[in-house]
Amino acid sequence: MPAECPAPPPADLLAARVRDPYPYFAWLRRHAPAHVERRPGRPAVWQVSRYEDVRALLADPRLSKDPGRVAGYVPGPAGLNRHLVHADPPDHTRLRALVNTAFVPRRIALLKPFITEAAHRLLDRVENSAHIDVIADFAAPLTFRMICAILGVPQHLDNTGTRDTLMATIAPDKSTDQGRAERDLHDLLDALIAGKRSGQESGGVDLLGALVRAGDQSGAMSEEELRSTAYLLLLVGHDTTMNLIGNGMLALLHHPAETERLTAPQAGPGFVAGAVEELLRYDSPVRDATFRCAGESIHLHGQTIRAGEIVSLLIGSANRDGRRFADPDRLDLARTPGDHLAFGYGPHFCIGAALARLEGAVAFPLLLERLGPVQLAKPADELPWRPARVMRGLAALPLVRR
Ligand code: HEM
Repeated sequence: MPAECPAPPPADLLAARVRDPYPYFAWLRRHAPAHVERRPGRPAVWQVSRYEDVRALLADPRLSKDPGRVAGYVPGPAGLNRHLVHADPPDHTRLRALVNTAFVPRRIALLKPFITEAAHRLLDRVENSAHIDVIADFAAPLTFRMICAILGVPQHLDNTGTRDTLMATIAPDKSTDQGRAERDLHDLLDALIAGKRSGQESGGVDLLGALVRAGDQSGAMSEEELRSTAYLLLLVGHDTTMNLIGNGMLALLHHPAETERLTAPQAGPGFVAGAVEELLRYDSPVRDATFRCAGESIHLHGQTIRAGEIVSLLIGSANRDGRRFADPDRLDLARTPGDHLAFGYGPHFCIGAALARLEGAVAFPLLLERLGPVQLAKPADELPWRPARVMRGLAALPLVRR
């Protein structure tokens, strides 16, 4: 019996999707586990919402990550788009191997004192403020600083202006500012790469310097791949982890008893690490997996996804699936949901997972300790969620000290 969509999804759930996608996801899992949206002149988009399906399809080679296989699909900023998220083997394998070494947990663990120090400096600045925005004052600058340090981006570019330009390239409305931001970022990255070639020192990990050398010496990367990879790493290194801190803090504010468990003296590093996993599951920063399309026909719940149709794997829904997680809408910091899909699964599993986990494990206890008693500065349903394609994150998380 095909699980055909019984009726269009209820309009109120669709309308609330950016602010609170979970009732919509629950509806999809129950009524339309493979739901297709067809619009004239556009490629069909399938939404897959159940845990087992999402996990299997994340690792299924019948799905391609090459946007060139979809007629008319506009994959993102021109000249910044030839990177591993949009590549199948063998290109994907080659690009991933070049980047991966910088992010292995052993190397990332060495960054802990640096992350802790940077987090303290940011919190020093708001020490005496009655109002704090967790995103602008803390999560945005902290996560950007870390990815800049890893890539070897010089300090004078580690600022709000660069961050705004970066984020404007993924603004969902195709405004003129977006085109300008893409050109600015293109130029900024080319200048950065030229600087690496002329021997500019940055100290630290300097992944970009290493990639430039690898490209120049062995032809391992084209110029467009180099620029695109730098763009991808800046973007995902920043946007995702910023959302983890924002979404996670909001969840903690809504659950004072869970927060107490996290701040209790007996909550050791093991508990904190488990709590970060649960926060990743509970309100996943990457709500939908990145681009995929069917490379051949795929049968799912009695329906056929045809070659060239887009498939959106709803990670945020899979992580709330009651078939996999007991009482899935409850935040339980002791749950240790090791098999959540917040970092994906299979060959495209997140390269930055160790870094994101470390940043989370430093950030949450420190924020709670140093901010002290705080509350939302406005009602929760007025918080500004960013209307993004893949991510789920707040534009601001304003708090007041109690
Ligand atoms: C909480 C923070 C993060 C979350 C939730 C997250 C989530 C994800 C997910 C779900 C994927 C797989 C996407 C797919 O298969 O469609 C992914 C891939 C990736 N992530 Fe992360 N990520 C985070 C932080 C980071 C950081 C800090 C970096 C560092 C640069 C990073 C770099 C990447 C890269 C390069 C890929 C592409 C891997 C590939 O396609 O082979 N991520 N991430």
